[in-house]
Amino acid sequence: MDTKITVTIDGQEVSADPGQTILEAARSQGIYIPTLCHYSKTTNVGACRVCVVEVENARSYVASCCAPVTPGMVIRTNTPAIRAAQKMIIELLWSSGDHNCLTCEQNGACELQDLVYWLQIDKPRFPIEHHGYEMDNSNTMITRDLNKCILCGRCIRACNEIQVNEVLDFANRGSYAKVGPAFDADYIDSSCVFCGECAQVCPTGAITFKQAKFAGRPWELSKTRTTCAYCGVGCQIDLYTKDNKIVKVMGNRQYGPPNEGSLCVKGRFGMDFISHPDRISKPLIRHQKGEAFKEAAWDEAYAFIAQRLAAVKKEYGPDSIAGLSSARCTNEENYVFQKFLRGGIGTNNIDHCARL
Ligand code: FES
Repeated sequence: MDTKITVTIDGQEVSADPGQTILEAARSQGIYIPTLCHYSKTTNVGACRVCVVEVENARSYVASCCAPVTPGMVIRTNTPAIRAAQKMIIELLWSSGDHNCLTCEQNGACELQDLVYWLQIDKPRFPIEHHGYEMDNSNTMITRDLNKCILCGRCIRACNEIQVNEVLDFANRGSYAKVGPAFDADYIDSSCVFCGECAQVCPTGAITFKQAKFAGRPWELSKTRTTCAYCGVGCQIDLYTKDNKIVKVMGNRQYGPPNEGSLCVKGRFGMDFISHPDRISKPLIRHQKGEAFKEAAWDEAYAFIAQRLAAVKKEYGPDSIAGLSSARCTNEENYVFQKFLRGGIGTNNIDHCARL
């Protein structure tokens, strides 16, 4: 039995799965509908209404992120009336906050800014009024500027549904509505565990990474996908770097498992050791006990290691040698290390720090 549903989107027949939203059906065909509050891994709440479309015989415009397709639906995503409604929504959001891109860390990576540009809005028709909220700079990792918050609720849903930390929610009503931890506490005084998920999903500059401030504009950064080395889970991360220094760390959403784009506090904020001046980045050799370590070239260090291991093995046997690896290495690195000990040296004396 054919369980597909046929709908028409912008004059094109589209086959959709039952339960799919209009937005999902449109995107599956490459039809663009703008969104702001929609975040694919969380519940659709229809907060921003930017995704409105016309549905034939519907009483009003429909939020496409929330509305499931029904058989025979006729949908229009790009009529002049829809564009006018979207413009109005974006102008209202713009005018109700301090969206001053000159000083905003998110300039160039802001979804509100992108939609202002896409909808070709020169300036909002309404006077710009914001609350003059104090910035939350209470901690070393995340900055919150509620004057840039558009109340889309993505951070709340990411905190509650993805990370299940349940720190954030809406408080107050109407134009006094704001997002924050219980009792309007700063992050540092709340139950926040600083996973940074709220900053990763925020579409504007309301929640940003403190270490990234003034460290590089979004278009100056290089992105490199790698594996977090803090534990054995193997979380996929994107390192955003400038001049060989990490500016910020984002969970990689495209790769999928094991972390599906989420990170813990260490993976998110614990990478500055890489460029710490105290880090040993060159081999050091000490030939005798009591002697000071001396810097050496890598070739010299490897030759010294090989010569000493061979000499110890020859004199005392392979089981006189043991290897201690690290939980901070990747699975592949640990595999190579045990292979070297077992296959190369000939001993099973291999262990790692995570067992301590
Ligand atoms: Fe659909 Fe916000 S994206 S209502």
